[in-house]
Amino acid sequence: MCGIVGVVGLQDCAETLLDSLKRLEYRGYDSSGIVTRAAEGFVMNRAVGKLGALSATMRDRPLSGRSGLGHTRWATHGGVSERNAHPHIANNKVAIVHNGIIENHAALRDELRAAGHEFASETDSEVLAHLFLAAFDQGMSAQEAGAAVLSQIEGTFALAAMHVDHPDMMIVARNASPLAIGLGDGASFVGSDAIALAPLTRNVIYLKDNDFAIVTPDSAQIFDAAGVSVHREVVIVAASQGMVDKGGFRHFMEKEIHEQPDAIAHTLAAMTGTDGTLSTPLSRDDLQAIDGIVMLAAGTSHYAAMVARYWIEALARVPVSCEIASEYRYRKPVTGAFTTAIAISQSGESLDTLMAMRHAGEAGLRTVGLVNVPESTIAREASLVMPTRAGPEIGVASTKAFIAQLTALICFAAALAEARGSIDAQRRDEIHEHIRGLPSIIGRTLGLFDDIRPLAHSLTTARSALYLGRDVLFPVAMEGALKLKELSYIHAEGFASGEMKHGPIALIEEGLPVIALLAADEVMGKAASNLQEASARGARIILVTEERAAHVVDFADQVITVPNVDPLLAPLLLTVPVQILAYLTAFEKGTDVDQPRNLAKSVTVE
Ligand code: AGP
Repeated sequence: MCGIVGVVGLQDCAETLLDSLKRLEYRGYDSSGIVTRAAEGFVMNRAVGKLGALSATMRDRPLSGRSGLGHTRWATHGGVSERNAHPHIANNKVAIVHNGIIENHAALRDELRAAGHEFASETDSEVLAHLFLAAFDQGMSAQEAGAAVLSQIEGTFALAAMHVDHPDMMIVARNASPLAIGLGDGASFVGSDAIALAPLTRNVIYLKDNDFAIVTPDSAQIFDAAGVSVHREVVIVAASQGMVDKGGFRHFMEKEIHEQPDAIAHTLAAMTGTDGTLSTPLSRDDLQAIDGIVMLAAGTSHYAAMVARYWIEALARVPVSCEIASEYRYRKPVTGAFTTAIAISQSGESLDTLMAMRHAGEAGLRTVGLVNVPESTIAREASLVMPTRAGPEIGVASTKAFIAQLTALICFAAALAEARGSIDAQRRDEIHEHIRGLPSIIGRTLGLFDDIRPLAHSLTTARSALYLGRDVLFPVAMEGALKLKELSYIHAEGFASGEMKHGPIALIEEGLPVIALLAADEVMGKAASNLQEASARGARIILVTEERAAHVVDFADQVITVPNVDPLLAPLLLTVPVQILAYLTAFEKGTDVDQPRNLAKSVTVE
């Protein structure tokens, strides 16, 4: 949920730290700070608010030094304030930045206070700085100090610490929160993900849980929790500077909406075998052995799971249970016939989803990670990875990753169905052909920005909005509502159309916007009559549908049409207008589209 960076061995490293933080700001932006090891010791700037506040401070008070740490915060322990901002410095000797939650921080703080330590903040992270201070003050080496501190703490962490007497060294460690070590030419780096290090190096080492490392300008010695030296491979990562710029768009989200045709094409390529037919990383035998699937995800990824359930059950006749990861994590699920758990996560770092996947694995299910970041923790821990290839998604509101998830999931459903004999190869290839055509069809929906802009403007004053969808479009209604509320802060709820008459229809009042998703499918008539019930009570019906179905709801107040598409693929196509609607409404309202308040791109706390 926070972003951390560190550098050793780079002249005037402060600007590099600030630049890396800009690429991590999507992880949290309540406050930020940078500390460097200058000639006189540690010097630090911190600021509340987005990174622009820190940039201004850095201009007024530049920091010198060839090593330092940086942090951008999403508050967990301790309110949003300058004194709770990271980095934290203990006794002018140990500086630290941390992402995660130290569960036993209170007890440790009491012990340290009893030993004479004084604290300047309310954060659990500052306790870590004092633990390292105590270890070094006892004369421990960096390796001994790393093992000693890790043996005392419980919880999740990605941390980087420096001691003022060792200016060219960082101690870095992780458990459940992501951390990458970057090996440069005469300098070394650490960051919450490879995107932070993209312009600096592509040679990256990913620590495993409870690893720690001693990082110097030309080395990274890695140890396990017991302090035993271990080897971790150096990987060449794909992230590059060009992949993390706005490319001329106003926002990352706008760019990523436009990248959706490519996201589909690249993900489809990853789900196509050498023989040109739909395939998955699971073997035919694996697919035939699947008796039931548990889908584990959060937020938008959970809605992708909900769409996939309709596809998998209809095509492959395999039961699917869609679980909200944070709920599943602490349940005592009866796994029964469920043999496979698919953890769906754009970041591959959502702790709720990671812990739910571990929970499923402990219950004996085979775990598959459907992730957009191949080097992520979920990818590394799953028994098998089914990749989406959307490219780095920087906007906090997920768009192209969702479309890529749906692409991978429809491919998986068709391949699973054919392997189990519930559809034949011809039907599988028909579906494949439809998916192949999607990038150009989706590309045509990108022309809807101008049509939707006036509608978005009219929504900016709405107090609330309902999204309705039936069958496979119900999860898309949920996703549309999430997009509107997380971007424009307008309350919105998604409902199954058929559910309205069981209570929510009481919400209908004159002019209430109801965004209705409808496709030319088996339930089109039922969905239309559900909308009639809302319209008859004064709702403002905004219909989002295929061209061939627009006539079905002739009482709609506004209609947004997309090209006709096979009913199986309607969820992908109808998602784009609701993404555009949410984006433009937020843009019109002036909210921060790429970094909405209170949110972070990767929720790495439970
Ligand atoms: C998406 O618009 C949201 N920002 C959020 O719900 C997100 O989908 C959720 O946090 C899950 O993230 P993940 O896919 O990286 O696990």
